[in-house]
Amino acid sequence: MTTSDPSYDFAVGTSFDPNAGPGAHAAATGPAASGCPVGGGAGAVRLAGASYQQTPTELYRSLRREHGPVAPVLLDGDVPAWLVLGYSELSYVTTHDELFARDSRRWNQWDSIPPDWPLMPFVGYQPSVLFTEGDEHRRRAGVITEALEGVDQFELARDCRRIADRLIAGFSGSGRTELMHSYVHALPMRAVVQMCGMPVSGEDTQRLVDDLRISLDAGEGDDPVAAYGRVGDRLRQLVTDKRAAPGPDVTSRMVTHEAGLTDEEIVQDLISVIAAAQQPTANWICNALRLLLTDERFAVNVSGGRLSVGEALNEVLWLDTPTQNFIGRWAVRDTQLGGRHIRAGDCLVLGLAAANTDPEIWPESYVGAENSAHLSFSSGEHRCPYPAPLLADVMARTAVETLLEHLPDLMLAVEPDELSWRPSIWMRGLSELPVQFSPVAQ
Ligand code: HEM
Repeated sequence: MTTSDPSYDFAVGTSFDPNAGPGAHAAATGPAASGCPVGGGAGAVRLAGASYQQTPTELYRSLRREHGPVAPVLLDGDVPAWLVLGYSELSYVTTHDELFARDSRRWNQWDSIPPDWPLMPFVGYQPSVLFTEGDEHRRRAGVITEALEGVDQFELARDCRRIADRLIAGFSGSGRTELMHSYVHALPMRAVVQMCGMPVSGEDTQRLVDDLRISLDAGEGDDPVAAYGRVGDRLRQLVTDKRAAPGPDVTSRMVTHEAGLTDEEIVQDLISVIAAAQQPTANWICNALRLLLTDERFAVNVSGGRLSVGEALNEVLWLDTPTQNFIGRWAVRDTQLGGRHIRAGDCLVLGLAAANTDPEIWPESYVGAENSAHLSFSSGEHRCPYPAPLLADVMARTAVETLLEHLPDLMLAVEPDELSWRPSIWMRGLSELPVQFSPVAQ
């Protein structure tokens, strides 16, 4: 796995760009010696580095102290960018599309980006909703929003419960399991694929789930490019099938939408939806489970007046949000932001996690979980489309509650400080979550 671990991030089709893929790059830690070519002056900080990935809040604190709310940083291969750390600066960037837009083709660094740059899957332009702007974005995002609005939340909860029951039955007799593999990643992937209209069971659905997993999070010996090819083929077939016989699912609603998207547009956007849903939702479940299992304010048995699963899920969005940083936006023209001169074509990384803990909004240094004014789903035109956070909440809540109901004495099988975070500055989640519990008779 590379330091930046691009295969692990939901963002922009991940390994879905067949021309992209993790290439060799200099892994570096600590402040770069050179000045920042973006124009931010000396002291631009390299964002890669395992030590930061274990304690990102310290990185954000020191960046804020040294550079203020908009910090010059170096991405993989020392490519310069700005990290927007301030809550109000981030809100400004995401709600001013006329200044900070999504089409990465305006980047002023393309001349120095090799084709195998590890972050290429997130910045390489694709004709999907993610990179469109203005009216075209409204058209594409409108279709996705309406298709997701058609999802019945009670039915989704019921489907998630059934998926959870099946997954739990697979390991509950053994008294221990590694939850990331056996449960946390599997549940939202299944749920989203079913939501898009794939059959509930059968080899065909399982193959798609497996190929999506490889595309999003390739392991040793996997071939993500081949898997991505198969994902595209299967979704193309799904679109054809739903054109012929629409049903009560997301794909059918996209196909029959009056905006008249082409099959290829729908395939692109389905891939964006599935990828955008799976990784952040899985890591939301992961980080909430970690909190419930390690923090004594949360009882594993949620009765008895302790803090609830809902509070754990909300607290995680403030303090351990899945999508920590997101690439990004590209400046449309020269402008000012947080006291910095931003040049046309500069790349801005959305520092969602840093903004959530900005001392400007938490002057007492206490970060509360009582409200949902965090920026974990971003903000503005390109924010996570309105119904998606609600659907993610249904999936995450059902996943956590069903697990705790089946295995009420669930506990960590290692010491809390033995848990390690995936080495990614983009997506926050654990590498493994080993647990033990009283075996359930099958
Ligand atoms: C059902 C689950 C989900 C679905 C279907 C979904 C779907 C999407 C889609 C389609 C986009 C692209 C929007 C656009 O460019 O116009 C997006 C963006 C995004 N989503 Fe989600 N998402 C889900 C869950 C989540 C979760 C759990 C999180 C984090 C807690 C999250 C955070 C984000 C962020 C940060 C963006 C980027 C917004 C930006 O560019 O400003 N999403 N999501």
